[in-house]
Amino acid sequence: MDLKEANIRFHDGASEDYDRKWAIRFDQDMAAYVLSKFELGLGRPFPRTGKLLEIGCGTGFAMLNLGLGGKLTEAWGCDISRGMLDICRRNAEELGITVHLECADAECLPYGDGEFEMVIGHAVLHHLPDLKAAFGEIYRVMRPGGICVIAGEPTLRGHQIARVVKKTAGWGIKAYARLGGRLGKRRVVLRKYPAIVSGDDDHELQELEHVVDIHVFKPRELCETARRAGFRVARCETEELASSILGWAIRTVESSVGEENITERWCWGAYNAYKRARRLDGYLYRWLPHDWFYNLVLYLEK
Ligand SMILES: C[S@@+](CC[C@H](N)C(=O)[O-])C[C@H]1O[C@@H](n2cnc3c(N)ncnc32)[C@H](O)[C@@H]1O
Repeated sequence: MDLKEANIRFHDGASEDYDRKWAIRFDQDMAAYVLSKFELGLGRPFPRTGKLLEIGCGTGFAMLNLGLGGKLTEAWGCDISRGMLDICRRNAEELGITVHLECADAECLPYGDGEFEMVIGHAVLHHLPDLKAAFGEIYRVMRPGGICVIAGEPTLRGHQIARVVKKTAGWGIKAYARLGGRLGKRRVVLRKYPAIVSGDDDHELQELEHVVDIHVFKPRELCETARRAGFRVARCETEELASSILGWAIRTVESSVGEENITERWCWGAYNAYKRARRLDGYLYRWLPHDWFYNLVLYLEK
């Protein structure tokens, strides 16, 4: 199947349950979390900016939380999936944030040259088959001197570590279930298919999830690709090692067991543990190789 078509099918299918599956919320806590990612890329506080575009905006996780955090009052967003855009529109309406949404491919943007002061993205580059074309388009729609920050992209090493964690957590929860272990005050019930995507047993979506995750990145190579598209400055930071290990273990457990095992107490416990692990990552970043960290944040200047 064509990779773009797969992306549309997968994200349309996943859209309704996407925020719940990825624990996406729109509140001050999440706004601070999103802001910290973009400020890591910027290396300074998030600027007061003119026209801002988010590519692959999905349900609005990044731009709507930046709006909630007072960093923008209106935003432009595009995504290849109409299903994701419908949820984004609904979220924006509920939050009272003005968004201008377009169903569009990041490799062929429907905007004029130099239209945006800032372009942002979160967890989108790894879905794009032709990165060179996408960087070319981002460059074209940015005004000279404009900046682009794209966060939440998987690093090669981080991805390898995550794979080991997912396998180990998968075996662990299966063994625990066979031994009659309990979670949420009930015996652990394993799902027939781990619900990778939607929290239900939609096997087609689960298969597609492997197809649409096209890239993992070596930070230096990604910067080089961006520079070749014309960007004057291209640099990368990374984040999340302990928090990524914990996060993938939690997600593997949640996608392996029945919904009745996942209580609200578990969800809050998992979230608080994740926040503590993120604080630990701040220290680890000083001592460990940066490419071990899972999430890459790319900063570009035209
Ligand atoms: C992992 S989701 C991230 C969504 C959102 N940015 C977030 O962080 O929650 C990736 C998004 O990229 C979109 N996408 C995939 N391929 C695309 C393309 N070629 N052009 C624009 N958007 C694309 C998907 O539809 C999806 O909404």
